[in-house]
Amino acid sequence: MSRAAPAALLIGVAAPAMAQVVEPTAPPEPPPFSAQGEPNFVNRDEIFTYRSLDSYSQPEYMDAFVENGTLPPVEERLPTEPMVYETSNMVDGAGVYGDTMRHVIGGRPEGWNYWGGQVTGWGGIDIGLFECLTRTGPLFTLNADSLEPLPNLAKSWEWSDDGMELTVSLIEGAKWSDGDPFDSEDVMFYWDHIVQDPEVQPLNGATPETFGQGTTLEKVDDYTVKFTFTTERPEQVLYSMAYGTFCPGPSHILAPEHPANNPDNSYEDFRNAFPPEYMNFPVMGGWVPVEYRADDIVVMRRNPYYWKVDSDGNQLPYLNEMQYRLSTWADRDVQAVAGTGDFSNLEQAENFVESLRRAAEDDAPARLEFGPRIIGYSLYMNFSGNGWGEPDDRQQAVRELNRNLEFRQGVTQALDRVRLGESLVKGPFTSQYPGGLYAGTTFYDKDSTVFYPYSLESAAAHFEAAGLEDTDGNGFYNWPEGSPAGDGDVTITLLANTDYQTDRNLAEAVVAMMEEAGIKLSLNLMSGNDRDATRDSGRYDWRVERNASDLITVVQNTAQLAPTGPRTSSVHFANDDGELDLMPFEEEMVDAVNGFMATNDSEERAELMKTYQQLYTENLYGIGLTNYPGALIINKRFDNIPSGAPIFMYNWAEDNIIRERVFVPEADQMDTELYPDAIPGEPGSDGPVTAG
Ligand code: GLA
Repeated sequence: MSRAAPAALLIGVAAPAMAQVVEPTAPPEPPPFSAQGEPNFVNRDEIFTYRSLDSYSQPEYMDAFVENGTLPPVEERLPTEPMVYETSNMVDGAGVYGDTMRHVIGGRPEGWNYWGGQVTGWGGIDIGLFECLTRTGPLFTLNADSLEPLPNLAKSWEWSDDGMELTVSLIEGAKWSDGDPFDSEDVMFYWDHIVQDPEVQPLNGATPETFGQGTTLEKVDDYTVKFTFTTERPEQVLYSMAYGTFCPGPSHILAPEHPANNPDNSYEDFRNAFPPEYMNFPVMGGWVPVEYRADDIVVMRRNPYYWKVDSDGNQLPYLNEMQYRLSTWADRDVQAVAGTGDFSNLEQAENFVESLRRAAEDDAPARLEFGPRIIGYSLYMNFSGNGWGEPDDRQQAVRELNRNLEFRQGVTQALDRVRLGESLVKGPFTSQYPGGLYAGTTFYDKDSTVFYPYSLESAAAHFEAAGLEDTDGNGFYNWPEGSPAGDGDVTITLLANTDYQTDRNLAEAVVAMMEEAGIKLSLNLMSGNDRDATRDSGRYDWRVERNASDLITVVQNTAQLAPTGPRTSSVHFANDDGELDLMPFEEEMVDAVNGFMATNDSEERAELMKTYQQLYTENLYGIGLTNYPGALIINKRFDNIPSGAPIFMYNWAEDNIIRERVFVPEADQMDTELYPDAIPGEPGSDGPVTAG
């Protein structure tokens, strides 16, 4: 059905006089682009088990610390049954100690209080520092019939007969990097004082809804905790126990700073209690932060208490050091390709051509492998009409437009996705992305995907139907009559992250295209950390953003797919009184997502995700822009990089490649360690220590 817009309303706007609505179609076929490298599919027990071995070893330089009494012997630092990686599952077998992975990142650490909401710098810093109850990154390599999150700090779990309880057994005898025992106290502190405390917004967005409505957790004993659910056997929770929603922090360090225990501390004090200068922050991960220099570097040394070994008894990790040069994300690509850095997720399409050219040369220091189309960008609108982020009159008027379907339809049809993609890179990389679940992923259904084709004429018809008119004839729409924003031009701010060239380019292209359609945008460009804070406090109109993993896997961060709780969806948080003013289609999306989380029936799940996708794309919950593949760039001297490791799926490649198993053969080792022969010092002390 199409309808004609009264011509009089359109005078002055750059659109034909008789605007016709162009109806949605099926999504266009993405240009063929095949991933390189196939995963070697295995069952989970082939990767690792938990068991005790006859003997253990450590890098030679650490013997001196045992001799001088700084460290207990390696077997005493390990749990009785450590996690044992089978060398048979390693592409290049058992590794040797030494060398560094030199990362380059565009992020900046705000501090180490990830649980209080601080960014640790991204680029895999947090993934190397913190461990989670389960692990999902390596799932890309699992056989479909054993596809379930991998045990990690949670060694095993058992469902009660009625499926209403899940008893989780933690690894026993594992220690934090300062030697303090890891136990259910750490898990309960995370649950009670981070997840359940509405004043705390942990970095990766865990909220009570993440674990299913009404779920509770209690301590059973030092190494056992128990979930109780309101629905039967919600296996989904195993994914919520993974990165980044269940990676407990050291309660012996965090609890004393939390306002619940320290009446002198505000929540802000708690958040800021561990600035980046705080060295040797205790972790369960493979490496401990030992040095930080602003805008320069973060250095991490191997964790002497790491609780994972290879099946020959070598304590992991093999790599002695992790370095993070604090530069830009684009520089990460450049350096990885040039060999002065070791690793990059090639994810900014602008860098594809040059990186491919260099990687194809015979003497190229790094290898580069493309995966499926999993980098996607969307335009998100702030849907709160009841006060989130305390909007002023103009912002409130924008929210009202955002909540109007005709308006969103106008916006989506004003975007030429072919041009958007080509503004980043020419060739078969980018595809026109309607929004929602990605083509080619498990839960995607083409027939449930609604695509609004580019048509300025149709956009004009929708804007007119939304009550917009160019009353002063200057080529831009004015606020509708009676708008709290007055009678001037509609102006909307577009928030974007300056840390990435792609975010900036797409945001600029959106501004230009919206101008062509008669909507005035102003760019609000911020560095990543400020942008995140602005987004999470709701102080934005629109934003252009790279999508999170929930739209790829669905099973990861599922609760965030819709506003299932007061602060689960970054487009729609509740106001200060905890009230969510959901639009009817959002309520239906919430039902689909909650239904999905509550059932394990695969047919039902597939149906629920079809419903979700239909609601999402038809109502334009997020407005898709473009999506394209990414490539993993890694220096050729590293071994044990699993084949077909995607740069992003359940998690980023920094997790997917299992860095604790990665090594550099002796002959290829470079003199890269900044703190050779040193181990982390006491928490809060200056830096690493040597034995002599
Ligand atoms: C940033 C980078 C990604 C990846 C993640 C890991 O978001 O852009 O490529 O490295 O950090 O957290």
